[in-house]
Amino acid sequence: MENNYLQINKNSWNKRAELHFGSEFYDVKGFLEGKSSLNSIELELLGDIKGKSVLHLQCHFGLDSLSLSRMGAVVTGVDLSDKAIELARELNEKIHSNSEFICCDIYDLPNQLNQKFDIVFTSYGTIGWLPDMDKWAQVVAHFLKPQGKFVFAEFHPLVWMFDDDFRQIEYRYFKSAAIETSESSYAETNSEKEAFVSWNHGLGEILNSLVQNGLQISSLEEFDYSPHDCFNHTEEFEPGKFRIKHLGNKIPMVYSIVAEKH
Ligand SMILES: C[S@@+](CC[C@H](N)C(=O)[O-])C[C@H]1O[C@@H](n2cnc3c(N)ncnc32)[C@H](O)[C@@H]1O
Repeated sequence: MENNYLQINKNSWNKRAELHFGSEFYDVKGFLEGKSSLNSIELELLGDIKGKSVLHLQCHFGLDSLSLSRMGAVVTGVDLSDKAIELARELNEKIHSNSEFICCDIYDLPNQLNQKFDIVFTSYGTIGWLPDMDKWAQVVAHFLKPQGKFVFAEFHPLVWMFDDDFRQIEYRYFKSAAIETSESSYAETNSEKEAFVSWNHGLGEILNSLVQNGLQISSLEEFDYSPHDCFNHTEEFEPGKFRIKHLGNKIPMVYSIVAEKH
């Protein structure tokens, strides 16, 4: 199964893209009415992006990419799912954005795209689908201009160690063999289960991959909440901030990294 992870994940993400497009969680209607899909964590790190070129890795069906475009950036979004990219292109036309969308595995992107960017951005639910962090960091570094900025917000590896109900530790913190699961969507919890192949990546592995590929880390932050309500047993303790009710503020749920290419 591990050897075939791209095909397995692509099939399942194709199904999820269609399901997610109509979900309350993704709120396409709100987006079309002008709402941004971005959260304060990444907005603060991105700062003013007017006129900047942004490469958005693992863009799903483009809500975040197009929210960046509405902020004045010139955006290229990339995703493995052809269904997600088709939907992103439809939204792009609908809101009269000039964003570009490319369908490919991000490891193959250097063969598909010949351009450098001011900012590379990726967020929430991305690196877990990738087996090799060194290869990922190579892609990030490859597409950044000198002095370019990498902005990354992701669920904390500690969160992925738990069982679905956050009652016990089920997986290793450190990367090991692929984790093969069958899951309903976080956006439509009663949806049919789909097969996925994923990996957990500890913070040391991620930071070292970036540093070893020539990036200088300028910030690493950990947050005791998630801006997305995508886990079981959550409570919204402040507007837009979610925690696992029985764990409260004891665990980190999200981290962010900003790094620069020198
Ligand atoms: C959770 S979503 C993206 C996160 C984004 N925050 C969102 O929710 O819209 C994960 C995305 O990664 C994409 N993906 C998974 N493996 C990939 C790969 N190897 N290359 C490119 N995209 C990939 C999936 O198709 C999916 O659209």
